[in-house]
Amino acid sequence: MSDAVREKAGSGVFRGGLAVTEEKIVAKILRYDPTQDEQHRYETYRVPYVPGMNVLDVLNYVYENLDPSLAYRWNCRAGQCGSCAVILNGKPCAACRTMVTKGKTATIAPLIQFPVLKDLVVDVKRGTNRLASVRPYLERAKVQPRPEIIKQDEVDPSGELRKCLECWACISTCPAVAEAWQDFAGPTIMTKLARFRLDNRDVEDRVKLAFLEGLYNCTTCRQCVEVCPKSINIPEKAIEKLRAYAVDSALGPLEGHITVAKYVQDTGKSVQKMTTPFLEQVPEVIDTSNPVDEVIFFTGCLADYRLQQVAFNVLETLKRNRVKVYIPKDQQCCASPLFRIGMLKLAEEQVKKNVKAMERFGVDTVVTGCAGCGLTLRRNFPEVMRRIRGEPQRFSTYDLTEYLVRILGIEKVAPPAPKPLKVTYHEPCHLGRGQGVFKDPLEVLGLIPKLELVEMRDYDRCCGAGGGVRSGQRPLAMAIGRRKAELIMESGAEACVTECPFCYIQIKDVLNMLGSDIKTYYVADLLAESYTKP
Ligand code: FES
Repeated sequence: MSDAVREKAGSGVFRGGLAVTEEKIVAKILRYDPTQDEQHRYETYRVPYVPGMNVLDVLNYVYENLDPSLAYRWNCRAGQCGSCAVILNGKPCAACRTMVTKGKTATIAPLIQFPVLKDLVVDVKRGTNRLASVRPYLERAKVQPRPEIIKQDEVDPSGELRKCLECWACISTCPAVAEAWQDFAGPTIMTKLARFRLDNRDVEDRVKLAFLEGLYNCTTCRQCVEVCPKSINIPEKAIEKLRAYAVDSALGPLEGHITVAKYVQDTGKSVQKMTTPFLEQVPEVIDTSNPVDEVIFFTGCLADYRLQQVAFNVLETLKRNRVKVYIPKDQQCCASPLFRIGMLKLAEEQVKKNVKAMERFGVDTVVTGCAGCGLTLRRNFPEVMRRIRGEPQRFSTYDLTEYLVRILGIEKVAPPAPKPLKVTYHEPCHLGRGQGVFKDPLEVLGLIPKLELVEMRDYDRCCGAGGGVRSGQRPLAMAIGRRKAELIMESGAEACVTECPFCYIQIKDVLNMLGSDIKTYYVADLLAESYTKP
């Protein structure tokens, strides 16, 4: 790729007479003209910076002042038409709604998954044709008398799903679409199908259509939510709703999900017991002298039944920080897999059992090391409990790293130090985008002596395990995971560290599958090693 740099002095006046500053934005724009270019190439432009400037302003400036051959698309300039979507610094966005950052290079590329017509203009026919095939309009049984009175609560009560602009930004980021678009129609189409399923006037079987379009291929990773110009919560408002309807009409869940649900129903845990569970190895209360705080430790199924060392390491970390720990013996599966696959009745039973198990201690802080459990305790539990008794559970939930940083305010991890290790962090979707816990794991890792942290490209890209995809659609999970493993290997790290048992197991598996000897750790594993091993 050539990297031509073009520069032309700004006029000094820009955007309706606002005076430009002396600062410049460096815009690297991916160019391609299929009539004359053999390959895509970046061209670099320097654009005068104006406070509040968005990506479309940058493109307009380049077009009007520096290079009129630039092709890009826009129309409303107000986040309404969806035509301006591009990729900014690796993340899809609506150009007219996304600010550029002063002092940071803005790398702008066309949406992926679609053929490029020219520069930033893509041909979205593949998306629109597929959308047309699911008939994204009201199917009525008969013509209604006029005027028709439409009530809000009869047509998608939240109104969120109707906001979709069809900008296709979500298609460019969805990990399931990246691996198998033919098997999963993607977030835009699922949003439309959910919208019409929630519209009482529609008579089409939208759930069956969604099922046939790969409803169970979504990992609920929320990458689509992150890039949606309207912030539509597609996993919760569309995917999980449609899956609940699919379960009601006996279309779902999938075979692997039924096994998980049966385990929960029969044993209270989502996985089979193989060795002695953690909960059978520890007392219910672990006291410490002069405790600084007291918490309930919610282990989650995997740390209890499969990854006991992780549970012991979380416990060790809490003890080393002089926290009194309650570990309810009667805690059960938090119901995360059940909520994600649409088995809401069984999920609600689990919520009630867990709330009862934890509230009996009268402790208002719950700590977990599982991103999936944390998300469920935070988002699903309050909803269920409000419905049942009019108020949420009487405790707040924190991820271990979040608790250490934000509540305990730890500033150092006690020596002795572990051996030097170069690690990279994989951010679990249900911890970062799901719970808003982004920096705390990195801060904690930064406190561990002799640990060198290297950033992985797309460190927050889904590993493929979530949303019931690993248990229900294993080949797709492994294909998504393979891409994650490649990113981990590319980082040059000796180990990948994460904060979710599903990610942990998935990453271990895909690294093994690729013959890599990169190790996998939990944050708590490294903390405990630092606390205990010379
Ligand atoms: Fe219409 Fe950006 S120009 S959404």
